[in-house]
Amino acid sequence: MEALLEPRSRFLRACQRLPVDATPVWFMRQAGRYLPEYRAIRARYSLLEITRRPEVAAEVTLQPVDILGVDAAILFADILLPLIPLGLDLEFVSGEGPVIRNPVRSAEGAARLREVDVQSDLGHVFEAIRLVRRELDGRGIPLIGFAGAPFTVASYVVEGGPSKDFLHTKRLMYASPGTWHHLMEKISNTLAEYLLSQVKAGAQAVQVFDSWVGALSPGDYVRYVQPYSRRVLAAVQAASVPVIHFGTGTATLLRSMKEAGGTVIGLDWRIPLDAGWRAIGHDTAVQGNLDPVLLFSPMALLRERVIEVLSLVEGRPGHIFNLGHGILPHTPVGQVRAVVEMVHEWSAQ
Ligand code: CP3
Repeated sequence: MEALLEPRSRFLRACQRLPVDATPVWFMRQAGRYLPEYRAIRARYSLLEITRRPEVAAEVTLQPVDILGVDAAILFADILLPLIPLGLDLEFVSGEGPVIRNPVRSAEGAARLREVDVQSDLGHVFEAIRLVRRELDGRGIPLIGFAGAPFTVASYVVEGGPSKDFLHTKRLMYASPGTWHHLMEKISNTLAEYLLSQVKAGAQAVQVFDSWVGALSPGDYVRYVQPYSRRVLAAVQAASVPVIHFGTGTATLLRSMKEAGGTVIGLDWRIPLDAGWRAIGHDTAVQGNLDPVLLFSPMALLRERVIEVLSLVEGRPGHIFNLGHGILPHTPVGQVRAVVEMVHEWSAQ
């Protein structure tokens, strides 16, 4: 584990709101289907097979560092991996996304979730972290570990897959609060331990993805979710690595998300960066927030919008450039690389 002493990397410095030579940039989902080099590996292994083979997971993690020139690597894994040792029957079905054949929608279901032994059940993830660190250390590029936040993970456990209105999840929350709290308790304990083990294995920062938390009203976030997010975030922050707390559709939740924790708060594109940062407070770093679809636009517009995000920072330390959500499949790789160059060049002036 590394302490929060003066780091050299741009990314780690920006997390601590220290001055940087140029704005650090990385992309959520920077390893993935838009990269031909990733698709070549996916032709041979399924998503779960990649995550179970540390050398392959390490190779895929390093691809965007080599191809794009980003300032941080994010471990190749998935927020749903901890569901398998919890006893959920998870599969990634092509064209459909994740499918869980035994979702939890009752007290009995929640009681049946297994006790996870993170070290042995998810050991392949930690081995991948150790392999990646060996490759990246000489290059001065830090590695970000990650997990889902309790609400977003619970939404998959209860819905059994992706959802638009989160009917089963919210119904459980409202109609069976005892079961909801029991479920959230089990999930958050596992997530906290999972993240801490990633840090022990060598992750130099972690991101907690609450991708779907924007489905909740601010009151319900505070009542049903914030205590669990707080517990997970506090556990990792105690390990002295920066934690990025990210969600989408969160314009009305930002204050409560900051109260839950995070060294850095991630913003999506639905709120201008300056307004989002004001809501969070300038004593916390921010990450974001270009609309991922802009990567499909003409270069002149793309450049204009990248500069717009950078201008809204108003020269404050503590900004990490990223998209407002993950890179989409079919994104042109050249455009992504161009954004890395634009961010570095414009901010270094
Ligand atoms: O490069 C990286 O960012 C690291 C790898 C990473 C993956 N998933 C690999 C993956 C990360 C950080 C994730 C996080 C993740 N997984 C989230 C949170 C981020 C977000 O986008 O909101 C969520 C909600 C998931 C769950 C998940 N995994 C879904 C809904 C899907 C199917 C939809 C899709 O995007 O394909 C996945 C599959 C998945 N996880 C892929 C990758 C590269 C694509 C599948 C493939 O290669 O076949």
